[in-house]
Amino acid sequence: MSKTFYITTPIYYVNARPHIGHAYTTLACDTIARRQRLLGADVFFLTGTDEHGQKIERAAEAAGKTPQQYADEISGEFRNLWKRMGISNDDFIRTTEERHKKRVQELFRQLRDRGFIYKGTYTGQYCVSDELYVDGAQPGDPCPTCGRITETVHEENYFFKLSAFQDKLLELYKNPDFIRPEARRNEVAAFVRSGLRDQSISRSTFSWGIPVPDDPKHVIYVWFDALANYITAIGYGSKHAGAQDAFKNFWPADVQMIGKEIVRFHCVYWPAFLMAAGLELPKAIVAHGWLLFEESKMSKSRGNIVRTETILDVLGADALRYFLLREVVFGQDGSFSFDALVQRYNSDLANGLGNLASRTLTMINRYFKGEVPYPSQATRTPAEDAIAETARKTIREFGVQFDQFQFSRALETAWGLIAAVDKYIVENEPWTLGEKQDDESRARLATVLYTSAEALRIATALAYPVMPDATAKIWAQIGLGDIKKLALADLTWGQLPLGTKLGDVHPVFPRADKSAIERMQQMEEQQRVPAAEEKPVTEVKLVAEMPAPVASPSAPATSAVSDKITIDDFAKIELRVGIVKVAERVPKADKLLRLEIDIGTEVRQVLAGIAEAYAPETLVGRKVVIVANLAPRKLRGLESNGMIVAASLEGGKPVLAGFLEDVQIGARLK
Ligand code: MSP
Repeated sequence: MSKTFYITTPIYYVNARPHIGHAYTTLACDTIARRQRLLGADVFFLTGTDEHGQKIERAAEAAGKTPQQYADEISGEFRNLWKRMGISNDDFIRTTEERHKKRVQELFRQLRDRGFIYKGTYTGQYCVSDELYVDGAQPGDPCPTCGRITETVHEENYFFKLSAFQDKLLELYKNPDFIRPEARRNEVAAFVRSGLRDQSISRSTFSWGIPVPDDPKHVIYVWFDALANYITAIGYGSKHAGAQDAFKNFWPADVQMIGKEIVRFHCVYWPAFLMAAGLELPKAIVAHGWLLFEESKMSKSRGNIVRTETILDVLGADALRYFLLREVVFGQDGSFSFDALVQRYNSDLANGLGNLASRTLTMINRYFKGEVPYPSQATRTPAEDAIAETARKTIREFGVQFDQFQFSRALETAWGLIAAVDKYIVENEPWTLGEKQDDESRARLATVLYTSAEALRIATALAYPVMPDATAKIWAQIGLGDIKKLALADLTWGQLPLGTKLGDVHPVFPRADKSAIERMQQMEEQQRVPAAEEKPVTEVKLVAEMPAPVASPSAPATSAVSDKITIDDFAKIELRVGIVKVAERVPKADKLLRLEIDIGTEVRQVLAGIAEAYAPETLVGRKVVIVANLAPRKLRGLESNGMIVAASLEGGKPVLAGFLEDVQIGARLK
């Protein structure tokens, strides 16, 4: 029986449309799954969507939809996107599916029957955005993960006896493979060593969740519900024999890939739940870093996302897949930029693999009527041995690096082979040999083109998991049929059958020019800024957002508004109290600050032209007034979602509006 291999992505929250940060986790898993399949494993690759909890309930309400409608829509977007990206998942689990709900309840029951769940009262702080209980925090304290203000929760809850697992978890972390990379392992171990408190695992103040068995006033805590997907999807808790077999076959998971911000849930709570249920633990939890855009984590709340569709439309899925795995050192944060994407695409794909394929196969077509030529021993030189040796070494090293999740190094290794063959072709000038008619030149030409084609075959085979579509095309052009049938474990130099008839040869990676960058940037900009015309801010006297002065300094504060407005006009402007959570300078913009302002229902990114009047560090924690329903606009490549209200003094100096009494965050000014 073949070895099984079970790999999972986290399941994605449906409060945000997918962006390339999400795509990163999924495609890293996809490449591993594809490589394992070629190595002969019986692979199960799982992804899905996380659809319950207060965060989703509130997002749906804000969008005027039921949580289920809202979840259906965004879950569908994830599924469609994965299809377009060539993601080869074997299942897609949604936490609102019946199969999941029943099995989560079964897990809850198990833990309760085994004495690890009890009823108690929770009073403390909760971060809705991270769906996280923040131990030790006081009312008004920010969430340690996202910085948003926590909410005070006072509820009767079910508790999980997490404290009983402290020693067992520390013992578990001694296995260096369980949490990777090591930095994350150390972080988690330090957290556990500092002491674990029992964890509330139900909520009773809202209803969008899976009811606690036998006590439906409570819904199961969304992280308990979500983490369980890794076993419910493969049949845990099912009464059907077939589903139970799948669970027996695939659990424990071989790799559970996550982003670094959800390490604690996966490396503390998850193994503790499994231990409590008497189940085996996953073999490895692997945490990657973040994809940054414009210097900060790409995320909806920061308004700095890049949509995957834009890149797919312009350069295709393989370009994105290659770029993300090649450019980002796995485990560390990595920056995304359209310039870097196009540069990599041209240098490594159009000029690298693509050019090697088209020049080698075109010459075989031209000089050998489209059949892989027989290399001649008589004309063999040390250069061929060197290429063969480089190829063997590449196969070995690529495998080790890839299986250690060092994708960028593995690709660098494979592209080292491509560079060596390019150099070999240039030095041996097959085009010159092709012009000569003597037997020796022809024999030498056959050797050079065979060597090039064989190296191309090997580079293509190695690159398949990362670029399934383009490599499948090159494989077919070499005349090798379906690349999915390749037995990767046996890949070695010299397997290209002599006389193989090439398929139709055409370029796989056409060069991209500068206009590709502009097109992608424009597509993103159009998505971000609604078509509505922007009104010049100088019309509203008391608003400071743009770097330009907000009003003519000599004019009295009301004179610029020429016509009177009605109370209904005024009611259209949504002024709200917010609190500054993050304030930082915008590089290369002297007057501009980037602020993250919590307005109660969400955190907004606002760009304000107040940097000359306020040092960023003096603003954090300060309450401000913002115009909350202003159409977003882009400044210096960053989206501004609202304006802060300020008086404009003579000389244009802004003074932020404030209150003498304490005011509630989110309160509306009328
Ligand atoms: N729903 C939880 C996971 C539950 S798993 C039982 C969640 N969802 S998420 O949609 O917020 O994130 C899903 C994955 O996307 C995480 O691994 C996260 O790290 C990843 N990414 C989201 N934005 C990202 C970047 N900007 N960069 C890299 N990965 C990021 O957390």
